Amino acid sequence: MEPPVRLQKFLAMAGIASRRKAEGYIAAGRVTVDGKISTAMGQQIIPGKQTILFDNKKVEAKEKPVYILLNKPKGYVTTLSDPQGRPIVTSLLHGIQERVFPVGRLDLDTTGALLLTNDGELTQNILHPKFEVHKTYEAQVKGHPSHAAIRALENGIFLENKKTAPAQLRIKRKNKRNTLIIITIHEGRKRQVKKMFQAIGHPVQSLKRLAYGKLELGNLQEGKFKLLHQKDIKMIFFKEKALQTKR
Ligand code: URA
Repeated sequence: MEPPVRLQKFLAMAGIASRRKAEGYIAAGRVTVDGKISTAMGQQIIPGKQTILFDNKKVEAKEKPVYILLNKPKGYVTTLSDPQGRPIVTSLLHGIQERVFPVGRLDLDTTGALLLTNDGELTQNILHPKFEVHKTYEAQVKGHPSHAAIRALENGIFLENKKTAPAQLRIKRKNKRNTLIIITIHEGRKRQVKKMFQAIGHPVQSLKRLAYGKLELGNLQEGKFKLLHQKDIKMIFFKEKALQTKR
């Protein structure tokens, strides 16, 4: 159950008016709590438990939106529960009261940037193909892909009868047996990065998401999270010129 809040604060959080204006509405007898007009300033109410009406219309409790960037470790699932009892990513969010959920998914063995929020609208925008949110990954792949293979992935290849959208790839490092590649895509098909490299014969050995748009993981440690601000949210929608779809 939610903690009690002052009535004017509740009205303000629900977007009815500023706190001061809400006090005016209360004083004017326009607000009822469980059917009784409330004019006592500072009355405490319990959101979700008591019925608040403003001008005879129900006021819905709104949770404060929170935005979190987590560096997901291996072995955590990005669902809110797991029938197999594996640990869930939200168990890492110590001290967060709001009920947040992951924006999209990362495989069990994928690490890195995972956004979590209780803002359903933002979640939909990030996941909607129309907004083409760029996601950048660091993939360690087996062997050494040829330039032709890299170019094929950049231009798009057929996965399950559908061509992938243009991608951007950069070879970061070559070791004896594998290659570290930075890849940016703006689609969100299930296990897409792994399938793309599998398709050119260089399976992914480890995968880490580095960024959504220009919102980067930076030096956030694995298993740690940070709260984001509005300016960070804007960075999510930043697009690399080379990958922008011409409309
Ligand atoms: N692509 C994958 O293959 N796996 C992920 O977890 C994310 C993108």
